[in-house]
Amino acid sequence: MSHKRFSIVSLVLLLTLALAACGQSAPTTQAPPAAQATQPPAASQATTAPAGQAASQGGKLEVFSWWTSGGEAAALDALFKTYAKQAPGVEIVNATIAGGGGSAARGVLQTRLTGGNPPDTWQVHPGLELLGQYVEPGYVEPITDLYQSEGWDKVMPKGLIDQMTKDGQIYSVLAGVHRGNGLWYNKQLLDKAGVTVGKTMSVDEFFAAADKLKAAGTTPLCVGDQGVWASAQLFENTLLGVLGPDKYLGLWNGSVAFDAPEVKQAITAYGKMLDYQNQDHSALTWDQAVKKLIDGGCAFNSMGDWAYGEFVKAGKKDNVDFGWVSHPGTDGAFVIVADGFVLAKGAPHKDATIAWLKSIGSKEAQEAFNPLKGSIPARTDVDRSKFGPYHNWSMDSFAKDKLVASVVHGEAAPAEFQQALNDAVTTFIVAKNVDAFATSLTQAAKTASFSK
Ligand code: GAL
Repeated sequence: MSHKRFSIVSLVLLLTLALAACGQSAPTTQAPPAAQATQPPAASQATTAPAGQAASQGGKLEVFSWWTSGGEAAALDALFKTYAKQAPGVEIVNATIAGGGGSAARGVLQTRLTGGNPPDTWQVHPGLELLGQYVEPGYVEPITDLYQSEGWDKVMPKGLIDQMTKDGQIYSVLAGVHRGNGLWYNKQLLDKAGVTVGKTMSVDEFFAAADKLKAAGTTPLCVGDQGVWASAQLFENTLLGVLGPDKYLGLWNGSVAFDAPEVKQAITAYGKMLDYQNQDHSALTWDQAVKKLIDGGCAFNSMGDWAYGEFVKAGKKDNVDFGWVSHPGTDGAFVIVADGFVLAKGAPHKDATIAWLKSIGSKEAQEAFNPLKGSIPARTDVDRSKFGPYHNWSMDSFAKDKLVASVVHGEAAPAEFQQALNDAVTTFIVAKNVDAFATSLTQAAKTASFSK
């Protein structure tokens, strides 16, 4: 299937997502031992091996991800602990590559896959990232049977499952669903500057608040864009805020051009936001920017709700120490950034991997992982009382808001466009040329063939 058809289909599917949604070891960079990669895959049937066999067959499992920040690592550890209970005796190789948004991990993974040296399982976003980068080239095996045997087909939203399906086969199970368009804030700093945030915030309200904060001597906006993607996300969120979800979706099916006046308006607003950011933004990672906000070094941060994991890790309390609102102008829209795991074709430890996937999709794992990660569970049958104010807010948003895909996190557009966006953002941060930014994106959309 061409990229063009892929992106249109995936976005239409996102739009039709079922509304019956959610009522929600210190990491190291580790290369797997060479022997592991050459070990032949287990001979048993792909998705029917009982979890109990996992320990007896090889006794190892290599999990590849970019979850290395404080909150991410704590949440990943909760998955490991649940797995250890459900499939005891398997040694987990925690193969992490630091770099938020997978900025460094995806390249390493590609090298391993093209070299025939896959980890057993890896973190992946549904939509184009999963289907275009891993399913199409044949790097993963379907796990469709698990959806029936584990009953996931009844408790996970069909629209999300569709994003992981090709030719009737399902290729991933979700650990959780992040909301990409959050604006987080330090409550004490806002109170001190006399800034109040209501249930929603417009772009103009954001700038009014930023001016007040600046006048009070506070840096209004925290950005940690080492690796660029966090600033690209600030732009993506602002684009959605200025265009609204319908026109935003039109960008990916070619009905709205990247040099349309509204897009230029969004680029202008994004450029203005950059005037309010911390000077050390390019030296900080996304989680260091959240830490700066927690420590009172700046007031707002536009980030997906993996930021929530950092607040929790730092012992901060919802609505006491920090608050949140949809990124300016994006109320009523939910930017999906979902995290799934796959079964590698030729997985060195196939039974242990199947047991891992079963564990990820279990209620126990979803209830342990998501409160720490910030995402809502992909399962709709979790006990909402086990989740705090933020998660309940996000679950409500998922159930009623317009669901849109993220480009920055690989779902809405092909990888080449994702890269072109990062490059255009890098140039814009310095040059601040609105027309040049719009022209680069227009050209990139044509090259990726989802625009005229
Ligand atoms: C996203 C991922 C999240 C979080 C974030 C920052 O791509 O879906 O789980 O890890 O990157 O690293």
